[in-house]
Amino acid sequence: MAFSALPLPNWDCGYDISDYCDVAPEYGTLDDFKTFLNEAHKRYIRVVLDLVLNHTSDEHAWFIESKSSRDNPKADWYVWVDTPPNNWQSCFDGEAWTYAPERNQYYYHYFMKQQPDLNWHNPEVKKAMWDAARFWLDMGVDGFRLDAIGTIFEDPQLTPHTVPMNLAELRRFSELAKTPKEIKLKDKYWFEMFKHQYGKPGVHDLMKELRAILDEYEGDRMLVGEDDDIAYMGNGKDELHLIFNFPLMRTERITPAHIRKNQKERLGALENLPAEKGWPCNTLGNHDCSRIHTRYGDKIHDAELARLNAALVLTLKGTAFLYNGEEIGMTDHMLSDISHVKDTMGSWYYHTIVTEMGVHPEEAMLRTAEMTRDKNRTPMQWSNNPNAGFSPSGVNTWLPVNPNYKDGINVHDQEKNPSSLLQYYKHLLRVRKNSSALKYGEYLPLLNTSKEYFSFLRQSDNQTILVVLNYSEKVLELDFSRTKEIKDSKLRILFTSAERRGGSFAPNFKVGAFEVFIAEVERE
Ligand code: NOJ
Repeated sequence: MAFSALPLPNWDCGYDISDYCDVAPEYGTLDDFKTFLNEAHKRYIRVVLDLVLNHTSDEHAWFIESKSSRDNPKADWYVWVDTPPNNWQSCFDGEAWTYAPERNQYYYHYFMKQQPDLNWHNPEVKKAMWDAARFWLDMGVDGFRLDAIGTIFEDPQLTPHTVPMNLAELRRFSELAKTPKEIKLKDKYWFEMFKHQYGKPGVHDLMKELRAILDEYEGDRMLVGEDDDIAYMGNGKDELHLIFNFPLMRTERITPAHIRKNQKERLGALENLPAEKGWPCNTLGNHDCSRIHTRYGDKIHDAELARLNAALVLTLKGTAFLYNGEEIGMTDHMLSDISHVKDTMGSWYYHTIVTEMGVHPEEAMLRTAEMTRDKNRTPMQWSNNPNAGFSPSGVNTWLPVNPNYKDGINVHDQEKNPSSLLQYYKHLLRVRKNSSALKYGEYLPLLNTSKEYFSFLRQSDNQTILVVLNYSEKVLELDFSRTKEIKDSKLRILFTSAERRGGSFAPNFKVGAFEVFIAEVERE
């Protein structure tokens, strides 16, 4: 969630904050937020806010003051230079240095020019931001998702990048890259372009300070970092509680081999934190990427794959993060009209490639629809009423509503349908909630190299669970009777996506095409 007192400038859908201690009027008031928080807590729901540390809005009072002159009290709160010192790019809209006539100087922004980077070397900045964090913690919020922590510090030498193109050209190059060589090169270029602006020293100290603040508060307050790097969990006790497992979702297809490798690397690294083992967390989707249903579908078995992937995230060891709408199977909605594009990174790209590269507007629109995050941020589909019940009929919603709400992809219809995806999620969540092994148990990989299915055990003190995810369209004959933890035991089904009879059965059995199979190993 993004909070801001003044109308949200919304250059980046709420990630451009103009006041860290208030609520944007379009979302209500601070009192509304307090009511929401209390009511959530009464229902045992925790509330975690998004905290944007790297940058503010250019309409934030801090920036307005900072840019007003070279000697105002906040003159050094942002990153100012007399002339652009290098060719750094903003990852959203071209040049990373933007001119401010008031100071006759340039300021740095990793994201859009409306999102100037704070100067975290200045202790006053740190104090102001930690005060903002305390403001919400005092109110009772349960923690923060820390936005883009890798971007907080830059290379002090300001080393230029060596990529022979600018951001728009690199995006275009990436879209057109087809051969393995071109694909490898584009990955290399993306890394090279931003390596001096990302993951620089200094962040660990900040994370330690913020963790120490959280630890002063009662109740379990939590920090999750928007980054891949487990190093931000420090020694296991002194930095972040969680780091997103982005490598799990950084793949074109979710396959058994990919999951196995990911879990081995990820859990291996978490085991080895010096003071305390790290706790994993898993997700396959969020507001920055194509929706799970679209991205990991194969256009033939999308529904089956969506169910397998939901089961994966809800049975792997770790906290599960779900993205709104995935539970009803919302899909990407491709925009076809540039005037509908709200993601400024998309409209900037469209105009740049049309005007500077001569790309035909139709082709530019297709590319923009694919690259913009608008496709996965369309309104939640509540019902089969106009505007999917998100807004009254006749209202122009923020982004166009995906018309597939009329085809059963909405909450209301799925509530009534026992075999809907929504009911499937609810059922799986209940199974997880009632199982100590699925909630807290260890992950024990089962040694096989099958390309078709992925299987593993989850084990707590009093429960062992076998999970089998058949990612293939074949019926598979499986035999776990030689697996140490299972042999001589029977299996009792807790959940399956197939039609099966209940009861106990031997550990050699068949799983159906795309079946999700979760069973408890019965102990003597
Ligand atoms: C990461 C957020 O997830 C993304 O939506 C946002 O645009 C950038 N950080 C900038 O705050």
